[in-house]
Amino acid sequence: MRPLSFTHRYEPALTPDQPPLLLLHGTGGDENDLIPAGRMVASGAALLSPRGKVLENGMPRFFRRLAEGVFDEEDVKARANELADFVAEAREAYGLAAPIALGFSNGANIAAAMLVLRPETLAGAVLLRAMVPLSDPPRTDLTGKQVLMLSGAMDPLIPADNSSRLAAQLQGAGAEVKHTILPAGHGLSQQDLSLTQNWFLNL
Ligand code: MLT
Repeated sequence: MRPLSFTHRYEPALTPDQPPLLLLHGTGGDENDLIPAGRMVASGAALLSPRGKVLENGMPRFFRRLAEGVFDEEDVKARANELADFVAEAREAYGLAAPIALGFSNGANIAAAMLVLRPETLAGAVLLRAMVPLSDPPRTDLTGKQVLMLSGAMDPLIPADNSSRLAAQLQGAGAEVKHTILPAGHGLSQQDLSLTQNWFLNL
């Protein structure tokens, strides 16, 4: 098999009929970070976990930012397309259905960008601590896609109105969005994992 276009980890499904998960780490993470979380929330699913190609002071990310919370939107678009192409390659190589993204922070933001730019790529998404990735997103039809957004009420990086705006954008495009604001900061809590696990059980 020819090497795929992103460094990644792939864990085959343990039980049939579960949608695969596309695991997207936060800034400074890598392809190993979310494997345990993925196994926990969707125990039998195949896991596909790429490493972001952008380096910020040596820390992998999925797109360039100009400052914390200020994105290079041209790069967001180019990188979302590049990642969507990787998902298509990996689906063919591993024989996978369209995955559900499970993204944290920067990984959640690229997942949100892929949803609006390349909606065919994802069957749905879990966006943990996401913010609006594109200020002027194209019109997209997300009918039939389920999205779980978990935000932190005490998140110092993401203003509450920003995550609500993303939820409204996705909902306006037809996605079925469940947005819950947890008594948490930017980091993930046990509650994130248990709510995500329940969401997968009820898909
Ligand atoms: C981003 O850059 O995507 C967000 O600021 C979240 C982060 O990665 O810190």
